[in-house]
Amino acid sequence: MDYYSYRNGKLFCEDVPVADIASAVGTPAYIYSAATLLHHYRALAEAFGPLRATICFSIKTLSNLHILRLLAQAGAGFDVVSGGELARAQAAGGDMRRIVYAGVGKTDRELTEAIHAGIGLFNVESEEEFENLSRLAAKLNKKVRVALRLNPDVYDPKTHTYTTTGKKETKFGVDIERGERFFETYGRDKHAALDGIHLHIGSPIYSPEPYVQAINKTLALIGSLAGKGLPVRVLDIGGGYAADYEAGASPTAATYAAAILPLLKDTGLEIILEPGRQIACNAGLLLSQVQYVKQGGDRKFVIVDAAMTDLIRPALYGSQHFMYPAALAPGEGVPQRRLDYVPPAGEKVDVVGGVCETSDFLAKDRLLPPMHRGDLLAIFSAGAYGFTMSSQYNSRPRAAEVLVEGNTFRLIRRRETYQDLMAAEEEV
Ligand code: LLP
Repeated sequence: MDYYSYRNGKLFCEDVPVADIASAVGTPAYIYSAATLLHHYRALAEAFGPLRATICFSIKTLSNLHILRLLAQAGAGFDVVSGGELARAQAAGGDMRRIVYAGVGKTDRELTEAIHAGIGLFNVESEEEFENLSRLAAKLNKKVRVALRLNPDVYDPKTHTYTTTGKKETKFGVDIERGERFFETYGRDKHAALDGIHLHIGSPIYSPEPYVQAINKTLALIGSLAGKGLPVRVLDIGGGYAADYEAGASPTAATYAAAILPLLKDTGLEIILEPGRQIACNAGLLLSQVQYVKQGGDRKFVIVDAAMTDLIRPALYGSQHFMYPAALAPGEGVPQRRLDYVPPAGEKVDVVGGVCETSDFLAKDRLLPPMHRGDLLAIFSAGAYGFTMSSQYNSRPRAAEVLVEGNTFRLIRRRETYQDLMAAEEEV
């Protein structure tokens, strides 16, 4: 679901023609719809409302300060995985008691900053990290709250191996078999109060079933810990809720909730969720402009000004993003946003960027209407892990980011300049 639409052959984000944004800020540009973002946030908050769950938006997904401010104002907490993300949450006015902090490699500096900030929950991923956190908290004479990140050894067979986390032999969390021992060893620590469990099984998880399995395994452990006088009070079930890349195929917040609520509703546990993609993915598109069209052997290449440096997902995960021109040919009906959509007079092309790598592609063998130099091409479902995974490779300044609210739009990150590329080098 999103608030992008074609009106009289022109693509609009909410009530703004995207071509107007291109004229104002240039391309490539990330364009976000505030209404779409808030719709998805509220859908999750409402679906999990009966559990009074805290929704901690996963900052890695889309970390622009202006977006974080919107979500903080709507009531979101945040999931952070680095000192930089914590700094963003603070700058966005986030409520520190609703910050959860995961990550296998938190440094002393990062832990110390988070202790000083007074964050709500440290999601600890190893025995050594727990001991280090307790030591640092003692040194600062503070008390912190801790959840153990468990690896429940479940996974979704459809999730890319690079983004599967809840299976044994990934680097994340502590094997569920060691969970009981972990609580016995550390459950009575004075400075690091261990009374929570954190799960994050992968991203995206396309059905509620893996969550159900992971939660059931965890509830059994919680029961056995209670019997030993080691009560668990908070359960963070992580992120991974899917989003629409292929039009309507993804489960909604309500679908996940329908399977998960019955398991948790009478447990008395405080529940936390860490969604990212389901909130941000469909809220953003990457607008690019065709530079050249050329033939190479049997293949036709549409070369745009966006590249793998702006959106690395197709190159890294083989992910598919629906893309379509921002202006339709006269008489063309509204395209269905599906990868198998056949446009009138369509032809198969590879959409590529200008980076010096063969892996620099945004789509392969994609049916598009004939594209010409100067045309605008919108790459949909790019709000999550789009800009945040972008780079300056080939010394390409990063794209501008724009937020649309109703019939207005504003720049929320200016396009980087050549000076930005070199600033940190010239300062030294
Ligand atoms: N919580 C933790 C501990 C995570 O590691 C992640 C994502 C999330 C929450 C949010 O997951 P989401 O709800 O967005 O699925 N770059 C990849 C995805 C990597 C996910 C990393 N962790 C992609 O572009 O698909």
